[in-house]
Amino acid sequence: MPIAQKIKHYMESASWIRGMFEEGIRLKQQYGEDNIFDLSLGNPVMEPPPAFHATLRQLLQNPPPGMHRYMPNAGYVETRAAVATQLAKETGVAFTAEHIIMCVGAAAGINVVLKTLLDPGDEVIFFSPYFVEYHFYVDYHGGVAKVVPTDAHFDLHLEALESALTPRSKVVLINSPNNPTGMIYPATTLKQLGELLQRKEREFNTRIYLLSDEPYKKLIYGGLTYPEIYPHYPNAISVTSHAKDLALPAERIGSIAINPGCADLEDLISGMSFTTRTLGFVNAPALMQRALVHLQGVTVDMSQYERKRNVLCDNLTAMGYQLVKPQGAFYIFPKVPGGDDVAFVQALQTKHILTVPGRGFGTPGHFRIAYCVEDHTIERAMDGFRAVAKAFGMA
Ligand SMILES: Cc1ncc(COP(=O)(O)O)c(C=O)c1O
Repeated sequence: MPIAQKIKHYMESASWIRGMFEEGIRLKQQYGEDNIFDLSLGNPVMEPPPAFHATLRQLLQNPPPGMHRYMPNAGYVETRAAVATQLAKETGVAFTAEHIIMCVGAAAGINVVLKTLLDPGDEVIFFSPYFVEYHFYVDYHGGVAKVVPTDAHFDLHLEALESALTPRSKVVLINSPNNPTGMIYPATTLKQLGELLQRKEREFNTRIYLLSDEPYKKLIYGGLTYPEIYPHYPNAISVTSHAKDLALPAERIGSIAINPGCADLEDLISGMSFTTRTLGFVNAPALMQRALVHLQGVTVDMSQYERKRNVLCDNLTAMGYQLVKPQGAFYIFPKVPGGDDVAFVQALQTKHILTVPGRGFGTPGHFRIAYCVEDHTIERAMDGFRAVAKAFGMA
């Protein structure tokens, strides 16, 4: 066996999104790119904001000395300070550069945090539906993944969490705005979550870290203000990235923020710098860090995503699809009539529409639509959505 059994097994169990991706390539070759409506991937079609290119041009015309040398593992102090200032503005919490570690996107950030925190057998609890990679990240760092459900509105199911928490629970991992549901956890829920975790810390005499995965934090609709975790829980760490809010997924740039009120702050900061280095990232990309100093507060044009969301939600609802209208990110997670999400996704595929079955996110009976695509892709997919709705007996 050339590769590890475990990795082989993981690759098979996580094959839904990848499978759709490969099927998409095959169908595009067969029918032409324009005739396949690929709503399977969270790969934004939007270009980065003009300020990004202007900043890069400026940097390349006036390269600072040593621009390509090694740097401190946590990142450039100027970048960390710029991120901290912005975060302090958004949260009202006194973040400074020392509370920020630059990371190679949110995925790397989560790995750095878990590597730093987990002893073998420590539990990481997260909610279904979930970003499927969480399972692998937890296992890579010796943790035990425990999944608890969300409620009927995809909000955190705190009674389920309470039953799942044990003295071995080290991390509770949440993701808001959520992939795949688009749900934003309200401040009232976060407050109750904070109270619950503090109560459990006292009861078990342990530390439980709340890790908030926030790559979609800036992608919110309807003038909503993002409910922050920091006011509700001291042992809070957030991870974000600019994959989505600056449309830079391949540039691999993000940041970890540790609540200044977090227990063992110094250890966490030095631990995360160390794991950034020794997981092999060494540091987050230098050019992107330099650019970020000038891009705090810049975000892609959200009116475009809002329009796409509205067109899809209005049309799908009129066709009889049951869905919770997303408040953020660029995904919708409708219910599948009859519950067979694989059969439903296959039926959509016959209409050249690529989506992902809910079981790929630990929640069968739904399917995920990613709408970070061109308007014409959405418009041209409508007939197929309508035909499949009829075939499955929707109203
Ligand atoms: C919920 C969630 N977390 C983390 C990531 C990873 O983001 P990044 O590309 O910044 O590593 C993604 C990417 O799609 C995601 O959806």
